[in-house]
Amino acid sequence: MAPTGTRTTEASAPHAQSRSRWKSPEVTVSASVFRKFQQLIYCETGIWLSESKTALLCGRLARRLRILGLSSLSEYYEAVAEPGQHHERMLMIDAITTNETRFFREPKHFEYLLHTVFPTWRKLADQGLRSRRVRIWSAGCSSGEEAYSLAMMMAAHLPESEGWQTRVLGTDISTRVLGMAREAIYRMTSSLDIPPDFLRSFMLKGHAEHQGEIKVTREIRQLVEFNRLNLIEDAYPLDGHFDAIFCRNVLIYFDNASKTKVVGKLVRYLAPQGLFFIGHAENLHGVIRGLRSLSGTVYVHKTEQKDLQETSASL
Ligand SMILES: C[S@@+](CC[C@H](N)C(=O)[O-])C[C@H]1O[C@@H](n2cnc3c(N)ncnc32)[C@H](O)[C@@H]1O
Repeated sequence: MAPTGTRTTEASAPHAQSRSRWKSPEVTVSASVFRKFQQLIYCETGIWLSESKTALLCGRLARRLRILGLSSLSEYYEAVAEPGQHHERMLMIDAITTNETRFFREPKHFEYLLHTVFPTWRKLADQGLRSRRVRIWSAGCSSGEEAYSLAMMMAAHLPESEGWQTRVLGTDISTRVLGMAREAIYRMTSSLDIPPDFLRSFMLKGHAEHQGEIKVTREIRQLVEFNRLNLIEDAYPLDGHFDAIFCRNVLIYFDNASKTKVVGKLVRYLAPQGLFFIGHAENLHGVIRGLRSLSGTVYVHKTEQKDLQETSASL
């Protein structure tokens, strides 16, 4: 039997008993309405939903329909596409974006920082050829694990006690995940991804109502700032340059036109010898103007770069 107060469409369908008594009503979409969402989402985010993503669209927007008491995606489109509906469009983007992430995801990039990049920066700083100020940008940071991983790496290996001033900027289009990032509280299971010495030094264990959770220490939190930034927008509200930009597992959702536009803009924020990291399942074929490849997923700003050479290591 459906729980009291449930809409008749919820959980009353014949298949509802199978997995959950709270199953969403079946949401479907016609080809023409799908195309309207495809365009709207593309213009708002640069994310291109191919025709194979109809089930994803329906699944991810079902909750918005339920909350608004709407019965079809066609009605929802009329509501969300209204020019004044900024807030609802933000909620639609929160629902549509894929925010999967982990601490120290794709560990080879962190090993590369440790064994190649940090020693180079240290050597250049010792020779007076670069400052000890380091800024890294996690562009498309989701709930913050990537930004905090970078901050932990720098706190441990480029410490303030040796004159380093390190900062990480985390940005994302989704306000929902940015809220989680600022809170800096994660499930205890995330600790499996964090090296044990970092876990001991930079994570607090939750008690009472926070049982089963961990929280990033203040020391690390104060190195990281989170802001909303839509990579597809024409102007980024940012000053200065970054020594490295991590834009991993973000461009994979963009078509080539958005990818070219975004990479072109990100490169402008790279310091002369700055590094650009993409995810292991991504490539920049045809869109790497301004960058030189050091390995499959690591690029360097195309200024004269004498210290970080191409690497045959698989990164
Ligand atoms: C799969 S997560 C990747 C998180 C992290 N970089 C990693 O590799 O683990 C992709 C993130 O990109 C964000 N994103 C998608 N389109 C964006 C856009 N136009 N501007 C900024 N962020 C965007 C999503 O909200 C999502 O949190």
